Amino acid sequence: MAQMQTVGIRGRFFSFIRAPKGPGDSGSYLYLRDGMLVIQDGRIVAIGPTNEVEGTLPPGTIVTHYERELILPGFIDTHIHFPQTQVIASYGTQLLDWLTRYTFVEEQKYYDPAHCTRQAAFFLDELLRNGTTTAVAYGSVHPQSVDAFFTESEERGTCMIAGKVMMNRNAPLGLTDTVETSYADSKTLIERWHKRGRQRYAVTPRFAITSTQAQLEAAGALLREFPDVYMQTHLSENLDEIAFVQSLFPDSKNYTDVYDRVGLLGPRSLFGHCIHLNEEELQRMADTSSVAVFCPTSNLFIGSGLFDMASTEKSKRPVRVGLGTDVGGGTSYSMLQTAAEAYKVLQLKGQNLPPATAFYMMTRGNADLLSMGGEIGSLECGCFADFVVLDSKATPAMLHRMETIGDMIEEELFVLMTLGDDRAVRATYVQGRKLHDRNLA
Ligand code: GUN
Ligand code: FE
Repeated sequence: MAQMQTVGIRGRFFSFIRAPKGPGDSGSYLYLRDGMLVIQDGRIVAIGPTNEVEGTLPPGTIVTHYERELILPGFIDTHIHFPQTQVIASYGTQLLDWLTRYTFVEEQKYYDPAHCTRQAAFFLDELLRNGTTTAVAYGSVHPQSVDAFFTESEERGTCMIAGKVMMNRNAPLGLTDTVETSYADSKTLIERWHKRGRQRYAVTPRFAITSTQAQLEAAGALLREFPDVYMQTHLSENLDEIAFVQSLFPDSKNYTDVYDRVGLLGPRSLFGHCIHLNEEELQRMADTSSVAVFCPTSNLFIGSGLFDMASTEKSKRPVRVGLGTDVGGGTSYSMLQTAAEAYKVLQLKGQNLPPATAFYMMTRGNADLLSMGGEIGSLECGCFADFVVLDSKATPAMLHRMETIGDMIEEELFVLMTLGDDRAVRATYVQGRKLHDRNLA
């Protein structure tokens, strides 16, 4: 997979050193106008100004030069559903109807391993076309969906986090497991895939509506048995959902408490949406270092509500917030478009999302939430050479707008997120290997 020889990439590089404190915080990032990145065995071994690095290359090193592009760490998507590539763009419903009418119909097709393989291959190639090199993905209820997903990811050399959905009620028969099979199948998948190469497992109870108390307890037991796996689920997305959860778990203080009581909160736990949390729930998320994942295109498309970033920042220790597409509730595989919609959602809340903060979230921020800083999400020595080559002049509208921007990097980032999508992804590299090239596709 990884190559033995040294490879050089020359161009403009941008990578975060820490979280930006606001617009214009140029100390939070490295910006190299003419830089060189050196890769050995799939990892970054040097990065710096070309005139300093060039002389250190072994004779005969092949250097690829991107003259006008901007090279960033590969994007990280912290909430997406791999079995929903044919659910995306389904008309006319809100969450619970959307699940019944569209999602549960498509997901039943994943009992077939051949279907799983075809869909996993499409999904991963589509992520790469959009510059996403790591994702935290839900499988279907079928263990074979996760086997197919990790097999395809391993073939590409990507770092992926995924898990089989656990769901034992309020779903069609073809989509339900049991407490026992969900525990046993998840355990087998953890033993087979967790930390095999770059693959990582996430215990995945779908959400409180589709799991009994006993199944949620089984998920908690898995986390205690395998403390370094991740956990992903949905939380507080839609008002009807919240009312249904309250009726299913009348003894719980609130929706968050349903998960809390079985030990599902913690620093490796990702909760999709978190739109309607009250103060007590936010405090519990903060106290346990749990992660709320903001999925703006989905929240707008399914009509779930507007994420309140300011509410996550109120307590002394803020709630950790990630950014995700949530395809197929979400409407774009592009983290650029996801950032654009995040900006608009926060505008409607009277809040801001500076471009540097948005790009931090897509790269180093999401990596830190996964405890993977130093491996992915930045262009530091020692990190995997997973990066995206962006073209800020990809369309006539972008080219025209860029005329007034020149070398102002944060303004360029804002153009990229507002007007950019897969067309602005010139190339995507994983472990130093080019897996997508727009001009060859
Ligand atoms: N809640 C439970 N399942 C799902 C899903 O597949 N997508 C979204 N957006 N919310 C969910
Ligand atoms: Fe989701």
